[in-house]
Amino acid sequence: GATGDLSGRHVLISAGGTREALDPVRYLGNRSSGKQGYALAADAAARGARVTLVSTTERPAPPGVEVVPVESALELRDAMLARAAGADAVVMAAAVADFRPAERASSKIKKTHDPADPDAAPTIELVRNPDILVELVQQRGPASAPVIVGFAAETGDEHGDLLSYAREKLERKGCDLLVANEVGEGVTFGQDVSTVHLLRRGSEDVRTVGPADKSAVAAAVWDAVVAMRAAP
Ligand code: C5P
Repeated sequence: GATGDLSGRHVLISAGGTREALDPVRYLGNRSSGKQGYALAADAAARGARVTLVSTTERPAPPGVEVVPVESALELRDAMLARAAGADAVVMAAAVADFRPAERASSKIKKTHDPADPDAAPTIELVRNPDILVELVQQRGPASAPVIVGFAAETGDEHGDLLSYAREKLERKGCDLLVANEVGEGVTFGQDVSTVHLLRRGSEDVRTVGPADKSAVAAAVWDAVVAMRAAP
């Protein structure tokens, strides 16, 4: 990417997997490493942007990047919605849990949680989390900023290929750009290289990047965002 082509811009990025608390010491989580979100933050900062990174991980902040630490999907949602209106671009690279425990116990759940049946195991009830990407699109309304970017980890199956699933997700969620990761056979989560397809709403064009490391994927995402802002 061109040095400085994001100067004067503010970009907001989410990174990492959410942790959905069961009690003060336990959570439901996922294997997202946060590497892609951090690579996006580092590249945006190198291109001159002011960068806010809402992160669930303990990774050190890239130089010049403001990190907002969060844990759960609900915290991540609040942090993103509060900052999106002032941003030029918002990228949802976080792996947000689709569900959270319906209740968070105020003290550690005991092994023997039912005195009448000491060997019983508890049942965890789950509720749906909000779709933050969809809420960001709704909050923006008819305004043209921020540019909103989503990610999608897709596999093809007997009902369709990954690009048609990605196209459907892009239209359903209403974001401007969707970065579709090829997943399966142990690729992508926690790995250093991946192949991605960049899909733009309202365009049939697909740009394929990779196999490439996450910083090359990040650069391609910012190239696409810059191009969209130049030619809406
Ligand atoms: O529907 P799916 O989980 O595949 O969508 C992935 C995209 O949606 C990612 O950009 C992810 O950050 C975002 N997402 C979200 N809120 C959720 C689930 C996913 O913003 N509850």
